[in-house]
Amino acid sequence: MLSISVKEILFWKKTQLSKGGDHESLALLLDSVGGISTSDLNSLSINPEGSLYLKHDLDHLESIWEDHLLNSSPIQYLCGITFWRDLKLKVTNKVLIPRSETELIVDIVFKIFGKTSQKLCFAELGTGSGAISIALALAYPLWDGIATDIDQDVLGIATENYINSSKQSNLRFYCGHWWSPLESFKGKLDLAISNPPYIPKDTYEKLPKEVKNFEPKIALLGGEDGLKHIREIIQKAPLFLKENGWLIIENHFDQSEKVKQLLIKNKFTSIEIVNDLSGIGRFAIGRYK
Ligand SMILES: C[S@@+](CC[C@H](N)C(=O)[O-])C[C@H]1O[C@@H](n2cnc3c(N)ncnc32)[C@H](O)[C@@H]1O
Repeated sequence: MLSISVKEILFWKKTQLSKGGDHESLALLLDSVGGISTSDLNSLSINPEGSLYLKHDLDHLESIWEDHLLNSSPIQYLCGITFWRDLKLKVTNKVLIPRSETELIVDIVFKIFGKTSQKLCFAELGTGSGAISIALALAYPLWDGIATDIDQDVLGIATENYINSSKQSNLRFYCGHWWSPLESFKGKLDLAISNPPYIPKDTYEKLPKEVKNFEPKIALLGGEDGLKHIREIIQKAPLFLKENGWLIIENHFDQSEKVKQLLIKNKFTSIEIVNDLSGIGRFAIGRYK
């Protein structure tokens, strides 16, 4: 641990931001690698002569910041950490960095189920870092959750994140293609959730390099029209959901009408499109009757 004055840290922050980047990314670096949280820094900033403890020296932090700026490497991968809702999650370039808009899926579940004391069973298809499933398993300790992914390495990270976030044991991790690891749950799920890869091929080719060059293609690309995986998930969902079970799917900004039609075609009712914070229909909800 290295002792450093508040004044020095504030000056260092200003210097780094003058090179580029944003406050939020620098705060993540200082917190996850330096061990200094924004709230610590804010609460001490009235006393610039006061001191803080750094886990790594400023040269080390600066080299990470420059890598981030020069190569467009996502700061979350460089730090190995991201914050999502109230979770601190490990991320490597094997997993998608969970996006802030996806946090709304958890709010949608809260809105549907409220503070229920029922014992329900949910599955998340394509869990990545485990963010959604871990948040739900923690919020509903009586529920049983199954989080799946096609990639065993990804599931290793999700499992680690669950162990680090919880002392509970109500979430299990299964590997396989969409519904296939869930054969023994046919007709037993109260809720299924997925944020599948949904970027159309043409759009994928034009993604910003900080996404395309670093985040896993398998987590992003949804085939020619972006709907390849969403179609498969919706078509097979009726086999796995209980009567009146819910399906919640995240989609690309221009897919909500098509996803709605897929839900109607597959006999879902109570269909609703939920907007993200910019007012774009990003989540489709349906109930299987
Ligand atoms: C868009 S990411 C979502 C990750 C995480 N749920 C989130 O919201 O941040 C899609 C996830 O689906 C997984 N995936 C891709 N193809 C799959 C398949 N055929 N079966 C199961 N999972 C798959 C990817 O490995 C990736 O973790």
